[in-house]
Amino acid sequence: MSAREEIADIVAAARRQLLYDREIGLEAPYLSSRNRAYLERGPHLNPLPSSGSVPYQSLSELEHFIGDCHRCKLCKGRKHVVFGEGDPRARLVFVGEAPGMDEDQTGRPFVGQAGRLLTDIIRAMGLTRDEVYICNIVKCHPPGNRDPEADEIETCLPFLRAQISLIQPEVICSLGRISAQSLVDKSLKITRDRGRWCSFMGIPLMPTYHPAYLLRYPQAKRQVWEDVQGIMKELGLANPREVQG
Ligand code: URA
Repeated sequence: MSAREEIADIVAAARRQLLYDREIGLEAPYLSSRNRAYLERGPHLNPLPSSGSVPYQSLSELEHFIGDCHRCKLCKGRKHVVFGEGDPRARLVFVGEAPGMDEDQTGRPFVGQAGRLLTDIIRAMGLTRDEVYICNIVKCHPPGNRDPEADEIETCLPFLRAQISLIQPEVICSLGRISAQSLVDKSLKITRDRGRWCSFMGIPLMPTYHPAYLLRYPQAKRQVWEDVQGIMKELGLANPREVQG
């Protein structure tokens, strides 16, 4: 494939994403106005259908808009759509991978064993769960706890973008490989890249290990604590206490 064809492919994919986002009521907040204008009617491109207005102004309206979601195959086995919870004006947003069984049962993110460890980490930062926002890349529990698949991530990610643009946090912390790869780059290696600042929608993002990984490899807690201290420094939070155990 020539470089010209490759670029044409990338532009076509970006237009498809813009169209999809528009269909579900999003106005692609991750695009600069210049790039959006190009995708709308760049040279040699047919104009896209005009945009409607975004049908939500708040997280609760967005949750209502997502509703009893049937946009991907995860709807078949899940009990609850796990939207996310916390402060709608949080300075810090944690993004996990997908709800587990406990989360599917309760409809709340990170309430199982890994969730209790995340709660300890948040407390060690001098914060409470109510002061941050906690959500996932996909909002429905994958059967058998498997990794979410590419089409499921692609379908659900616009809702995370919408959450982030409503909350406007100062920092995002991605938990685990799937979250970091979905938000930053598929080539990201969590063992190599955790602890290095990245960005999502122009917001500083710190990739770190998933709490479920820490349950299996408690020796990695020290690295997560280093990453968390980096976040605290960025947010100007003082007096960290080390996570015990
Ligand atoms: N693991 C996740 O990634 N998210 C949850 O909500 C629970 C466990």
